[in-house]
Amino acid sequence: MKRTFAWVMAVLFAVTGYGWLRCAEGGELEKGKALYEDRCLLCHGPKGDGKGPGSIALDPKPANYTKKSFWEDPNIQQKIPETIKAGKGQMRPSPDLKDEDIQAIILYMTTTFKPK
Ligand code: HEC
Repeated sequence: MKRTFAWVMAVLFAVTGYGWLRCAEGGELEKGKALYEDRCLLCHGPKGDGKGPGSIALDPKPANYTKKSFWEDPNIQQKIPETIKAGKGQMRPSPDLKDEDIQAIILYMTTTFKPK
């Protein structure tokens, strides 16, 4: 009897724990997507190729996240948050974004645009 109870609890924890993790990850990605669409899409584009509607008038053009070379930069994990916070050229800074917002945007960029 005791053993059955332990098993039931173990399975229950496994299932709810897994569900919770999946949900947290999905939520993070959804948040990153929403922030990207709100703050970055205009210039960097829906496909992340730097060809958003607002990019037409820009020179130099917004970064293209679908290129391997963008991700090959060894400092890319620092560069993205720094660029978001400080801006670069015609890209305006977004100092109001929290670190967790920025991490969500990076997660979205990595899962959606980074070439395999
Ligand atoms: C007003 C248009 C615009 C918006 C909005 C914008 N960017 Fe940019 N972004 C640019 C331009 C233009 C460049 C290229 C700047 C340069 O090289 O002078 C750039 C460059 C970058 C780079 C490359 C920096 C480097 O050093 O190579 C990253 C990373 C980046 N943007 C991320 C983002 C993210 C994330 C968002 C949303 C939070 C965003 N940008 C919103 C226009 C924009």
